Amino acid sequence: MPSFKSDFPVFSHDPSLVYLDSASTTQKPKMVIDALNTFYEKQNANVHRALYNLGEEATNAYENARKIVAQFINAPSENTIIFTKGTTESINLVAYAWGRKYIQTGDEILITEMEHHSNLIPWQLLAKETGAKLKYIPMKTDGLLDLSHLDHYFSPKTKLFSMVHQSNVLGTLNPTEMLIQKAKEVGAVTVLDAAQSVPHKSVDFQKLGCDFMAFSGHKMFGPTGVGVLVGNMKILDKMNPFLGGGEMINKVTLKESTWNNVPYKFEAGTPNIAQAVGLGVAIDYMNSIGMDTIESIEYELTKYALEKMKNIEGMIIYGPKDRGPVISFNIAGIHAHDLATFLNQDNIAIRVGHHCAQPIMDILGVPSTARVSFHIYNSKNDIDIFCQGLETTITYF
Ligand code: ALA
Repeated sequence: MPSFKSDFPVFSHDPSLVYLDSASTTQKPKMVIDALNTFYEKQNANVHRALYNLGEEATNAYENARKIVAQFINAPSENTIIFTKGTTESINLVAYAWGRKYIQTGDEILITEMEHHSNLIPWQLLAKETGAKLKYIPMKTDGLLDLSHLDHYFSPKTKLFSMVHQSNVLGTLNPTEMLIQKAKEVGAVTVLDAAQSVPHKSVDFQKLGCDFMAFSGHKMFGPTGVGVLVGNMKILDKMNPFLGGGEMINKVTLKESTWNNVPYKFEAGTPNIAQAVGLGVAIDYMNSIGMDTIESIEYELTKYALEKMKNIEGMIIYGPKDRGPVISFNIAGIHAHDLATFLNQDNIAIRVGHHCAQPIMDILGVPSTARVSFHIYNSKNDIDIFCQGLETTITYF
């Protein structure tokens, strides 16, 4: 298995670090860090405003990043790519700018019980404000969606369907295309939370067929503070603006204002310019390795970890066998927070808690889980060290 650890300066800074929390945020390759420095040293100016050369350079770098993103996920055009702060803001943008315009009392919003809070709270707020009903496709204790009564959930009243592509807690790979198709058959607008899939495998927006898809830069080697909403242009065009101010306008008078074209209509204020440029470079980095290679390395790591972990005394692993590079677990008799604290003494970084998905914890009947997640800088050796750390912790307790 190839090793990409040397591309990431954090591991030369701290060679003993075993970083197993990439579902939370990834480490950054040197080329992304360098791109941020280069932007600030050589290209920094505001975008879409300046007539001078530096402003044009910054604008070109920013708009080039939009093209790179569009190609990466096969969007129909770069104009359908809206830079946001991250997945959470992208989903909120749809809930506010589309939802407040089109959702009415009596309408139904359908999501699943497997959602991250970022794909749940915006719809709860929308339902409460509009008098719409929020419904959930259930999740079973094995970490798969219960698909047995779909016709009960999808109906002509379903105006919006939003779902997670790959679970941040269980790694579950959902039958996305089938569910999106179901939603379209009843005329619903469809949203996909792809925060945990786009960083790990090839994702084709047009093939998936959803109207909106959201993901974050920082989970795919990019900087924090930048994410993407890609959307169906016909719907985007008719939506209200989200935030007001900056370059999102066409004409402003004291009486009323008109809006700029998409995507600028949704990019109020000075955007996170350097971060967007950094995201473009992060995608260049991923493309240089190849998404299929990335997916197969992570598959291999996940398989290896599952095999090793299941032999550990008291181990309870949650979620299905086929999954993305995320494993949630508990060890009988040891609190997840104690586990993380002990592992940290050996410089092993894992996440514990409810993972911003409390309804999943309720379904599993636990207050919290420990979670490991992988990316291409991890190795089987990391997993060996982690499993050894678990054994030592169990012996202590
Ligand atoms: N959504 C991120 C996670 O799952 C923060 O850790």
